[in-house]
Amino acid sequence: MKTELKGKTVFITGASSGIGKSTAYAFAAEGANLIISARRIERLEAISKNITEKFGVKVHSVQLDVTKREEVKKTVENLPGEFSIIDILVNNAGLGRGLNKIYEDDPEGWDEMIDTNIKGLLNVTRFAVPKMVARGSGHVINIGSIAGHEAYGGGAVYCATKHSVKAITESMRIDLIDKGVRVSTVDPGMVETEFSIVRFYGDEEKAKSVYNGLEPLTGEDIADAVIFCATRPAHANINEMIIMPSVQANAFVTYRK
Ligand SMILES: NC(=O)c1ccc[n+]([C@@H]2O[C@H](COP(=O)([O-])OP(=O)(O)OC[C@H]3O[C@@H](n4cnc5c(N)ncnc54)[C@H](OP(=O)(O)O)[C@@H]3O)[C@@H](O)[C@H]2O)c1
Repeated sequence: MKTELKGKTVFITGASSGIGKSTAYAFAAEGANLIISARRIERLEAISKNITEKFGVKVHSVQLDVTKREEVKKTVENLPGEFSIIDILVNNAGLGRGLNKIYEDDPEGWDEMIDTNIKGLLNVTRFAVPKMVARGSGHVINIGSIAGHEAYGGGAVYCATKHSVKAITESMRIDLIDKGVRVSTVDPGMVETEFSIVRFYGDEEKAKSVYNGLEPLTGEDIADAVIFCATRPAHANINEMIIMPSVQANAFVTYRK
C-alpha cells in the first residue's frame, strides 16, 4: 500500500525558491502539512499564504539559516505543538558558488558551499532525526546532484559537497536500518531555478546561457520525484534517484539545438 501523505508533516529546507518551493506545493497538493524554511522569510510568508489558500493545509514558515547550528537546533527542537512531529525531512537547501578552475577560484565560495551543502544538511538532520528514531518512523529525502556521481571541471568543491551528500545518505541508511526511518536521495541534472543566478553571483545573463538550446528540468520535475520516493509503501525505499533532462547524458555531455 502506498504511503499516504495526507495529514503528514513535512519539513523542507530551502523552500523559498526552485526545487524546495515546488516540493512544498507538491506535498501540499497531497494534503500534507508543511514546515517551510529558508533565510528569505518574506518569500516564505507569501508562499505559505498562497499554499494555505490553494490547498487548505497548515503551513509553518520559519526563517532559518542551515549553516547556523545553534539556530537550527533551537528551531527544530522547539517547533510549535502541531508541527512538532516531523514525518518527512527534505534536505534541499544548497548552492553553487562560481564555476572556476580550482587554482583561480575564490575560497570564500568554498566555505559557503561546504557550510551549506554538507554541514547545513548535517545540522538539520542531527536535530530532526532523533524524534523519528524515538517514534520508529520517518523519512529523510536529501537533494543531491549528478555532481555527486561525476565530477566536472570548474566544480571541484560543489562536486565534492554533492559527493558528500551521497556518502552521508549511504551511511545514514545504515545507521537507521533498524529504526523504521527511510533515507533517500534525489539527484538531478540541470534544473532551471535560481541556482545558476546564485552560482554566478547575480549575473542573470550568464545564468540564462547555461540552458541555451536545451530544455532543462523544472522544479516540478524534481518535486514529482520526491513525492514518488515519499509515497512508496513502508516496506520499500528508493535509495537513489538520478533524474536528468532528456538532452543531458551525464554531468558534462549535453545536446543543444
Ligand atoms: N538547479 C540545479 O540544476 C540543481 C541540480 C542538482 C541539484 N541541485 C540542488 O538542489 C537544491 C535546491 O537548489 P535549486 O536549484 O532549487 O536552487 P535555488 O532556486 O537557488 O534554491 C536554493 C534554496 O536554498 C536556500 N538556501 C541557500 N542557502 C541557505 C542557507 N544557508 N540556509 C537556508 N536555506 C538556504 C535558498 O533560500 P534562501 O536564499 O532564502 O535562504 C533557496 O530556497 C540544492 O541543494 C542544489 O544543490 C540543483
